[in-house]
Amino acid sequence: MPITQSAPLATLSSLVPGARDRPGDDPLFALHREATERAARGESILNATLGTLSGEDGKIAVMPCVLETLAKVDARTAAGYAPVAGLPAFLGATIADVFGDGPLAKKAVAVATPGGTGAVYQGVVNFLEPGQKLLTTSYHWGPYTGIARNIGRDAETFTMFRSDRTFDVDGFAAALARHVDTQGRALAVLNFPCHNPTGYSLESTEWGQVVEAVQRAGERGPVTVVLDVAYFAFGGRSARTWIDAIPGLVANATVLIAWTASKSFTQYGARIGSLIALHEDDSERTQIKNALSFTCRSTWSNPNHLGQRVITDLLTNAELRRRADAEREELVGVLRKRIQAFNEGAHAAGLRMPRYDSGFFSMVFVKDGERAAAKMRELGVYVLPLKGAVRVALCGTPLREIPRLVDALVTGAAV
Ligand SMILES: Cc1ncc(COP(=O)(O)O)c(C=O)c1O
Repeated sequence: MPITQSAPLATLSSLVPGARDRPGDDPLFALHREATERAARGESILNATLGTLSGEDGKIAVMPCVLETLAKVDARTAAGYAPVAGLPAFLGATIADVFGDGPLAKKAVAVATPGGTGAVYQGVVNFLEPGQKLLTTSYHWGPYTGIARNIGRDAETFTMFRSDRTFDVDGFAAALARHVDTQGRALAVLNFPCHNPTGYSLESTEWGQVVEAVQRAGERGPVTVVLDVAYFAFGGRSARTWIDAIPGLVANATVLIAWTASKSFTQYGARIGSLIALHEDDSERTQIKNALSFTCRSTWSNPNHLGQRVITDLLTNAELRRRADAEREELVGVLRKRIQAFNEGAHAAGLRMPRYDSGFFSMVFVKDGERAAAKMRELGVYVLPLKGAVRVALCGTPLREIPRLVDALVTGAAV
């Protein structure tokens, strides 16, 4: 039958209904673009939107040892395919980066992924059935929801903070138990240390309470915990507390660690990551490794070969590792000064924010996130609006701009 002129457009579309009306642009990148365009027109703009670390000169920070190592990789080797699951040396190096050669390393398998994003994807597709929901904090990195929805899963949140702005572990425990009871399984995604967008890191007592909650839920049904540790190398005094929690978690759950070189080697564009999976049982670990490898092959196929070789060298060659650690420490120092100045300024100005001692972002509670961010844009200051809050990227804010940022936040918080 011929198609008539009056047929509604949607009936002519070959896009499946679920793929229609998708937001084509992430709001974060739209804001970043607007800020960049205004700056290019000569306006004085403070762009505290994006999660890349820049130096005091405002340019993206890079680690020279990474670029030098990259230049030395044998071109023909890197041009070929890497194994589907990743180079064994790379996978071993990422496991050792977290656990050294301690007992947890023996309970771990890994596959290479395109960044932490690919690692989270692996967790969602293999540890939830279609139609089921992952569980995460009410403030969270937006793509968790997108990753889940893109593959027929979804996301649900629990209220992250109590009224005193500390982590609501009881809310987490109740939601986790409910997920096990209603879904027959649960997948919790926790982004500590240096939580994006709030800047919050769990103290060791809070980790202890999380472990208890996971153990209790694990007695009711299968529980998987994704530890998205994208910012762990910038974790300050919280740097190891999350690792100390893992033995308690793995006693009654599968633990997935989303490891990424994006932030720890300032290689956001290289898309190098690793999903490290821990389980007590040998045969279950083999099942998990096979499932993860299958997903690699069936989604992005072989991972970035050049990048894996570079990161392997930087993690395993003693001299290169020493250099990488020293260069990163310099960047951590740059960020630490900003955090200190921001905390002092924000507290003096009476801004309300969660505990923040390390990481790329902080969050300030305001009356209305959208209105506050719009008001701040009038002042040339760009932050990411959230529900009742705005996220501030200290990673992209030079030290000299912190007073301007605080002043703009004070103005934004009042509208
Ligand atoms: C919380 C969080 N998780 C994961 C990622 C993933 O980054 P990538 O895929 O570049 O490793 C990011 C990046 O912004 C992030 O903020």
